[in-house]
Formats: sequence, C-alpha cells, structure tokens
Amino acid sequence: MNIITKSVIIFIMLFVNQTSFGIKSAETAAFAIEKRIDKLLAQMTLAEKIGQMYQFSYAKADMSAELAELVRSGKVGAFLAVTDVKLRNKLQKIAVKESRLGIPLIFGLDVIHGYRTIFPIPLGQSATWDLRLAEKAAAIAAKEARSEGIDWTFAPMIDIARDPRWGRIAEGFGEDPYLCSLMAQAKVRGFQGKNLSATDTIVACLKHYVAYGAAEAGRDYNSAEVSERTLRDIYMAPFRAGVKAAAATVMSSFNDIGGVPASGNRFILTDVLRGEWGFDGFVVSDYESIKEMINYGIAADEAQAGEKAILAGVDMEMASRCFLNNLARLVKDRQVPEKVIDEAVRRILRVKLRAGLFEHPYVDPNLAGSETLQNDSLQIAREMVRKSLVLLKNDGGLLPLRKDIPSIAVIGPLADNQRDLLGAWCGRGKAEDVVTLLKGIKNKVSSTCRIHYIKGCDIKDNSLGQFDAALNIADKSDVVIMAVGESADMSGEAHCRTSLDLPGVQRQLIKAIHKTGKPVIVVLFTGRPLTISWLYENIGAVLLAWHPGIQGGNGIADVLFGDYNPSGKLAVTFPRNVGQVPLYYNHKNSGRPPAASDPFTSKYIDCPWTPLLPFGYGLSYTAFEYSNLEIKPDKVRLGQPVSISVEVENKGTKAGEEVVQLYIRDLVASVARPVKELKGFEKIRLAAGQKRKVSFTLTAEQLKFYDIDMKFTVEPGVFKVWAGPSSIQGLEGTFEIF
Ligand code: BGC
Repeated sequence: MNIITKSVIIFIMLFVNQTSFGIKSAETAAFAIEKRIDKLLAQMTLAEKIGQMYQFSYAKADMSAELAELVRSGKVGAFLAVTDVKLRNKLQKIAVKESRLGIPLIFGLDVIHGYRTIFPIPLGQSATWDLRLAEKAAAIAAKEARSEGIDWTFAPMIDIARDPRWGRIAEGFGEDPYLCSLMAQAKVRGFQGKNLSATDTIVACLKHYVAYGAAEAGRDYNSAEVSERTLRDIYMAPFRAGVKAAAATVMSSFNDIGGVPASGNRFILTDVLRGEWGFDGFVVSDYESIKEMINYGIAADEAQAGEKAILAGVDMEMASRCFLNNLARLVKDRQVPEKVIDEAVRRILRVKLRAGLFEHPYVDPNLAGSETLQNDSLQIAREMVRKSLVLLKNDGGLLPLRKDIPSIAVIGPLADNQRDLLGAWCGRGKAEDVVTLLKGIKNKVSSTCRIHYIKGCDIKDNSLGQFDAALNIADKSDVVIMAVGESADMSGEAHCRTSLDLPGVQRQLIKAIHKTGKPVIVVLFTGRPLTISWLYENIGAVLLAWHPGIQGGNGIADVLFGDYNPSGKLAVTFPRNVGQVPLYYNHKNSGRPPAASDPFTSKYIDCPWTPLLPFGYGLSYTAFEYSNLEIKPDKVRLGQPVSISVEVENKGTKAGEEVVQLYIRDLVASVARPVKELKGFEKIRLAAGQKRKVSFTLTAEQLKFYDIDMKFTVEPGVFKVWAGPSSIQGLEGTFEIF
C-alpha cells in the first residue's frame, strides 16, 4: 500500500465511528471514494479536469452570462468570496444540473477568527493557551459559515511570526512551533469536526505554506531567507501537525524561500508535504501567486508560471488563470504529463467527496442566519475574550476595581469603538454586533457609579483638541480607564509597520492624564506586540486586550471588575524597541551569549538585549508558587519517556487559573539548539490556598529535531528542564538520555 492510499484510509478512519467495524468501514469508504474518482476521471475531458483546478475569485453580487457559461462548461471548480447564499445556490445548480458531469463547486471564504460571531484575533486566542476553547470557537465559526453556504475556510493561518512589524502576526498563533502546532490541530478539529461531510463542518486550509511569516524586515510578501533546518524545525512544524490532524487542504504562500516561490516549490509541496508527511488533500495557491512568479523573474509568462506550479505540486489556482488558459496546450506539447493533471484533480475531487458536496450541494436559504450569533456562541466568545486578556502590570493591586466605585473616567479612541474591536480579517462580522468597552463597563458597574466618557483623540490623528476635556473628566473621577492602541486596519495582510509605538498622540494623552495623579488603568487593543516601555514603567495597571471581537467590552469588564481572574499568557515576545526585532525566546545561544561584564558579547550598546515582556508571561490577581520539581528517571535509555512533575500552589486569596509551562534545552547536540523550547503546558484552576501536582511525560518524539544530516532524531545527552509560569522563570532540573 503506498503512503497516499494509507493516509486516505487513516483520514477516513478519523471520520468514521470507532465501532468494531470502524477500520473495515473506513477502508471501504476510502475505497469507495477512490472508485468514484476513477469513474469520474475516466469520463472527464482534459478541459473539464483543468476546470476543476480553477478557483474563481468573486467579489461582485451579480452573475454575468459569461460566468454562468464558465460554470456550465465545467471550467470552474471553486469560488472565493461568494457571500450571498442565493447566488451560491444558483452557481451550484448550474454546476450540478447543467454541467456535463454535475460535479459540485466548493465555496471558500476567509473565516479566520469567526464568521459572524467574531472571536479575539488568533494571536489573542493563543494567549488563552486553551485548546478546547480554540476548537470550540472554530466549530462555531464552521457551523455559522456552512449554514450560509461556505464549505471551505482559508484557516487556520499557522505561520510562525517572530517579527511584529509584519501585519499578519495578528492572524496566527505567535512565535512558538509547539503552541502553534497544538492550536493548528485544535482549529482543524474544530472546523472539520468528526465528520467533514456533516452540514455543520467546513474544510480547513493550513496556510501559508511556508515561511510566509519570515518575510524579511517584516514587510508583507517579502522574501524569506531561512535555512532548511529552521524551515523544518520552526516554520514547517505547525503544518506537519495540521496534516497529522487530517487538514484537507493547504495553501501555498506568496513568498520565495531562497529564490524559489512557494507556489513553484517542488521541495516543499511534493517532497515534504506529500512525500514525507503523506498529505493527500489538495494544495491551493494563494491569490494569483502562480502568476506572480512572473514578477519574481522565474517565469517568462503565464504558461511557464502554470507549468512550474503544476509540476511543483499545486492542484488548484486561486484567482489567476495560468492553469485555465495554458494547461491544455502544455499537456498537448508534452511539457506537462496528463497524469500529473489527473493526480491534482483526484485530490480535489477527494476533498469534495469527503466534504459531502455531492450528497448535499445546496444550502437552505431560509436557514441562512439561523445559526449565527446564537446565545451559547456569544457566551463562548465572551469566555474566549476573558481568557485571551493578558494582565501585563498591576501595581499595588489596582485591579480589580470595585463595581460600586463612585466614579470612573473612560478615555481613549478605542473605548466606544465598535469597528476596530473586530480586528483584521473579520469574516462576515459586523461592527453593530460589538459590545464596546464603554458598554461593557456600563453593563457591569452598580447603578450608583458615575461614568464620564470622552474619546480624547483619534487613533492616528495628531489633534490635541480634546485633551483639556479629557483632563477635566479625569479630575472629577476616582479612577481612569484608558482604551488605546491600534485600529483594526493597522494589522492584517499588507498592513506592516516600521514603528511599533502607539499611533498618533495616544501616548501624549496617557502622559497628560497620568500627570493628574489619578490612578490609571490602560487597556491596550492591538493586532501585534507594541513597544510600550514607557507605559509599562509608569502606568499602574496595563491589560492587553488584542482585538477582542464582538464580546470584547463584556469580557474585558469581567476582568476589570474581578468576575474573572486573568489567566492569559503571551504567545509572542514584546520587544523594548523596534530595533530589537526579530526577538523571540527560542533563539540560539551564539558563541558569545550576552554577559554584563563583557562588552564583546551578543548585545546592544543602547538597549538591553532582553525583551520588555517575554513569551509565556502574564499576571493574575492571585499568586502561584512552584515547588518540588521531580524528574523521573533522571537517566533514561534513548526512546524511553521521562516523567516530570511540579507542584503549584495558589498562595493568594482568589481562585485563579495558571498556565504551567514546561521548557527544555538540549545542552549538546550535533547542531546548536535553542536556549529554551516549550515542550508542554497545562492550564489548571486552583482555589485560594489549593495546591496541585502537575505532571508531564516527555517522549522521544517530543525531543526530536533535524540533526546535522537533516534527520529528524533525538540525540543522547543532557537536557535541562524548567517548569514555571513563563519562559524566563521556573524551577530547574536536568535529565540525561543515554
Ligand atoms: C491572502 C490569503 C487569503 C486569500 C483569499 C490572500 O491575499 O494572502 O490569506 O486566504 O487572499 O482571500
């Protein structure tokens, strides 16, 4: 049995009830699908095959005769961004009833952090370290999207991002390959469910394969210069995990790696993705990325771009028409073997069959909207907001506030702002659904509390016109809550920055209010790490809220007023200044690690080399104490697991949740290994005074890396271990593998 057939069976098994007949019926189902594809392929003309490989990008809300004819003649296999259910059904009807073979279309949309119920941006979701919740959010998005005719999402976006200048850092799960891998799997499980052909699940797409987040200088679409080892250890890791979780599609990215654009890169698409990992779904190119190979200068025209892409391993072309207009001639001229086309079409049909599109090609337009914004979905969104918030600072227990505090000044351009709380890539989210921070506070406080609100300034403008009025309301209030940060359009695709400072005059506004001497709490809305040293040093309490989605105001108020004890931890490093980036916790040691006493070590003369806030960091209203790190056995034969446990005690007076983090360092190996690597975590809840032992098992698989010969392996030797509350704190120990 070849690797592809094997993985087809494994995939089907994942979606078949695990009865005693499970394996048998999985095999039968996989076999039946392949048989059906054989039959279809035998009937398809070359033109019809090529048609399956084209995804039409649709933004307008009407249908031309030309488009109808394209579908009728089988020249389109998929659509992008058809958001009108009736139109979707109309197009589908032409494909199913009027095209020669009746192969259904598949409809895709970017459902990134929610469809209509918008959850926190993915970078915020990863700060929850809550995989169950991440999965639930994806399942809600899937249910909502499928009910409105979306069969396929271009998510999860699992690009490791080490550079906060890159606007798309907002869309992914941060800098760590382990956390990002688990988030990738949770999202695939959430979107695709146990049964991909059910009417409440959608096809997932792992994107952007690969190293898109390594864009030089944090500038979108730029080149990625990464070694094969870093590519595999860091950037490919989440994709490998996503493939293991049976993600049905993968998107090839815009960037080149060492001069070879992803959509023309046979090494990544065929050798690794299919050859090594056994991926049997289909690869879609990112928007016009095949055609863009002309701009790269590796294809003279669209025909050559198409040839390179199909031979590299792209199956479906998004938006541009290099395949549609050229593949037939390329086959005729024997530049592309027809069996390569057949394989691509087989993979596309396999996903369509698995998704149940042949059985239920239409959606009921009368049900459109019935699944969106349901009460329990809003509850989950609120829970996700609370858990995504990271308490960065809380001097003197300024937070939580009492609900019966006599007066509060609420100041800042993000306080009564709906649109920007949705964040980038907000699907079919609507600003009108958003609970603003001001509203959330009003919902929370007692009726005696007086709330004074003023915007103070705009997000990006330079006017100081409202400063006096802002100072005035601060003066007459007991406490000031300031809502500052970035607008939604300052992150996301093509929205990169060279400055990571608060935009406009927001910092000036905070400074002016701070001077009044009133206690100030800053709530920071952002799509990326910002440089906030001044804030961090001077302001009493800082709560990081990301772009929190439609339940933002309620979830934040839950934390500000103590109904939820914050538990979020950063999934990305916060630098002190932009000159430090890329800055990430799992770096190599260098031959000259920074040493205070030695100027000729790896550091700066004008800034510490350390971050302002490290990966894994986040405070609580209570205090957790770690003790009794145990490593058993501390010497272990290669291949045997190691058990690590630590005790965690809630020493404060409030119940709270803690993300217990496990890091290792492989001290001597054939290639330099990171100074720390996250290898496990558990989010636990402890009542005041409660103590619990948290245990981890480290398997050989978790210690593997790409060695000097690029083999994925574990090498014997000593490993350091840390168990603690962040990447820079924790109890230390060691074990040895022999
Ligand atoms: C983005 C992808 C997205 C696609 C379709 C591209 O510009 O890079 O992430 O899925 O558009 O909207």
